[in-house]
Amino acid sequence: MTERPGRHLLDIEALEDDTIRHLLNRAGALAAGADTNPIDMTVANLFFEPSTRTRVSFELAALRLGMRVINIELDRSSSTKGESLADTATTLSAMGVNCIVLRHPETGRCHALAAEAGNSLSLLNAGDGSGHHPSQALLDAATIEAQGLAWPDLDLSIVGDIRHSRVARSGLALFRRLGVGRLRIAGPAELLPEGLDLSGIEVCETLDQAIRGANVVMMLRIQRERMDQAGWPDSTRYHREWGLGDRALALAAPDCRVMHPGPINRGVEIAGSIADGSRSLILEQVRMGVYMRMAILEWLAEAQPVP
Ligand code: CP
Repeated sequence: MTERPGRHLLDIEALEDDTIRHLLNRAGALAAGADTNPIDMTVANLFFEPSTRTRVSFELAALRLGMRVINIELDRSSSTKGESLADTATTLSAMGVNCIVLRHPETGRCHALAAEAGNSLSLLNAGDGSGHHPSQALLDAATIEAQGLAWPDLDLSIVGDIRHSRVARSGLALFRRLGVGRLRIAGPAELLPEGLDLSGIEVCETLDQAIRGANVVMMLRIQRERMDQAGWPDSTRYHREWGLGDRALALAAPDCRVMHPGPINRGVEIAGSIADGSRSLILEQVRMGVYMRMAILEWLAEAQPVP
């Protein structure tokens, strides 16, 4: 056996430009019906936080590539008996698991595990606290490209709870690298980011400022699970000031597309009629998620140990 180091997907920042372009092109090709070859690999989904889209789409992606998939039920796993995450990972690796898809509430946990577990298997960051969600950023970029939109022509606004959003953090890093024409963020002052590199990003004080003329608007959920209950914004007031409804959307470019990584809270950050409307790409994002995760798993498989 020739050992090659396990390849990880921890964040956007660590990806080479060529890899980003490869993943976007490959996801687009898969969405258009490109062929795949079966891959001999075992993937374990290890989710310490709830998920519908990310967990199911990684499972579907792996199955479509002929991989074996194990969904670890955490409440019935030995993590309830105090086993460390690193010991869980090396135990799974010893049983032949090649790749762990990890979601964890602690920011930085996936990076820490990559350092602890070494290169015995591949780690895929499926969201760590307020840190990173690289596969979501990649699927969002692939969804935008599938609309035929060129990055320099894009006027993209991200609105909502930027501070706690790993989707925003990874998206901002990716969209800048892809050469987005204009990038705005907006949200209540207490939900704007701290300690984030905002070079090339306009920070707007109101929803109207953020949306005027935009041709893509990405709305974000309030991440209540990452705040003290005392700091939760009032939903009705939030919707009035920051929720995307018909009045605000009328300020955007006439062909403006609306995105949201999900799950959505109808009537809070977005009106249900807009989420379901003709400008919404929300279900396109979900569909592209399977293809992007297939592209990612294929890319990880290239670095698996070879006989
Ligand atoms: N967008 C996203 O990560 O959704 P899930 O929490 O359902 O995986």
